[in-house]
Amino acid sequence: MQAVDGVDLELQPGEIHALVGENGAGKSTLAAIAYGAVRSDDGSVEAVGVVGLVHQHFKLIERLRVWENVLLNREPRRGWAIDVDAARERVRALSASYGLAVDPDALVETLPVGIKQRVELLRELDREPSVLLLDEPTASLAPTEIASFFTTVGDLAKRGTAIMVVTHKLAEVIAYSQRVTVMRAGRVVASHLTSETSADEIAREMVGGEVPALAARASVATAPLLEVRGLSARSGTSVLDDATFEVRAGEIVGVAGIEGNGQTALSDALAGVAAFTGELVFAGTLLRASDTPASRLARGIRVIPQDRRHEALVLDWNVRDNVALGRQRTLGLAKYAGAAREVIERFDVRPPNPDAIVAALSGGNQQKIVVGRTLASSPKLVVAYQPTRGIDIGAAALVQSRLIEARNAGAGVLLISFELDEIFATADRVLVIANGKFVGSFDRAGIDRGRIGALMAGNA
Ligand SMILES: Nc1ncnc2c1ncn2[C@@H]1O[C@H](COP(=O)(O)OP(=O)(O)OP(=O)(O)O)[C@@H](O)[C@H]1O
Ligand SMILES: [Mg+2]
Repeated sequence: MQAVDGVDLELQPGEIHALVGENGAGKSTLAAIAYGAVRSDDGSVEAVGVVGLVHQHFKLIERLRVWENVLLNREPRRGWAIDVDAARERVRALSASYGLAVDPDALVETLPVGIKQRVELLRELDREPSVLLLDEPTASLAPTEIASFFTTVGDLAKRGTAIMVVTHKLAEVIAYSQRVTVMRAGRVVASHLTSETSADEIAREMVGGEVPALAARASVATAPLLEVRGLSARSGTSVLDDATFEVRAGEIVGVAGIEGNGQTALSDALAGVAAFTGELVFAGTLLRASDTPASRLARGIRVIPQDRRHEALVLDWNVRDNVALGRQRTLGLAKYAGAAREVIERFDVRPPNPDAIVAALSGGNQQKIVVGRTLASSPKLVVAYQPTRGIDIGAAALVQSRLIEARNAGAGVLLISFELDEIFATADRVLVIANGKFVGSFDRAGIDRGRIGALMAGNA
């Protein structure tokens, strides 16, 4: 099969054109061809002026500063030398002009993903593209940042740039695009003026049918599993302050919050990769700082980390070895290949090939492998940090169903998500986190959207 097959697409100056489709449909490949980074066997790309591409998986040099990344190979010079002051100033002016705040001197490796996204965008904006291709630019943005992101993009369109946005968030398509094209299996299957379609119609065209319903919630007897008392932790710039809560076996506890409010410190303390103070009691045993991630894994604590490519996958290994990763000592040769086949089947990984190198899979299919591995072989506690990031609408329903099934089978699930809809669809209880503190708790029956939103924003 070809990743992209006979696609016609026209981008107009001044227009935001949304490109949607299932994981593996060929969206990133199409963007790379239009940009000129991938050669097509057939067909042609015509563009007036410079084409810019903001990659789905950022292409930044982590050890360099923001200004160095933005201006790489285009640095202002004074004689032979780079004019550092002028470079800094140019990045500052660019960032002010588009309302994308960054510190030109920050080291990229220290930045949270949302800010890296801005750096990646600024680098393209500095080239003054007449066509700008954005591949899932909002996947790492908090919902509150998305509106201002589209204001920036809208301004750019008004200045005459033709813009293509790849996204899995259909609400964005409806709210911000003028035109939408749907791809499935490498082909364009529909194209609309956005004003003449709906999120439901687009979803059906993407999936080629109805989006599956979520798994039913069985009534299960819950039992104590994880008790967290006075937990404080720090991971990079993320800080958690004196958190006390519990997760029972047989329930999904959602942590609702805006990105950057302590979620990473929470996840990392539970995973065993961040120092903490306070008490973590898991299945009746006190966890210590000396309990490594491996020993926690052996006890049944499984984590879906936030960043699949840096924290979860070995990209140049195949699917089979990545599925076994972390369980390679206990899995045994007999079950080794079967484990990968099971994940591929249960999570609809495409292509369904255990020998495929993970780097060659589309972003969403990489994510399915991380989720599938975590939920395989009866975990006791699942810490799921943005489990559906980059996953298409049909596959997201599948992942959420698998989380519900794990709960039905008696696992405790801590779902850390920036998507309130995801939390409301799956959680038995909702905890709200703001400024590193837990500030509210709601039972499923008593969920109050307005109140939760206010608490998340820091209004007690
Ligand atoms: N570098 C590569 N080498 C080989 N095959 C690839 C490579 N990149 C992508 N493919 C294949 O091309 C197909 C389309 O992938 P692509 O990344 O374009 O999908 P996508 O629509 O962007 O999906 P997603 O929503 O998951 O990002 C997939 O089957 C994928 O496995
Ligand atoms: Mg993609």
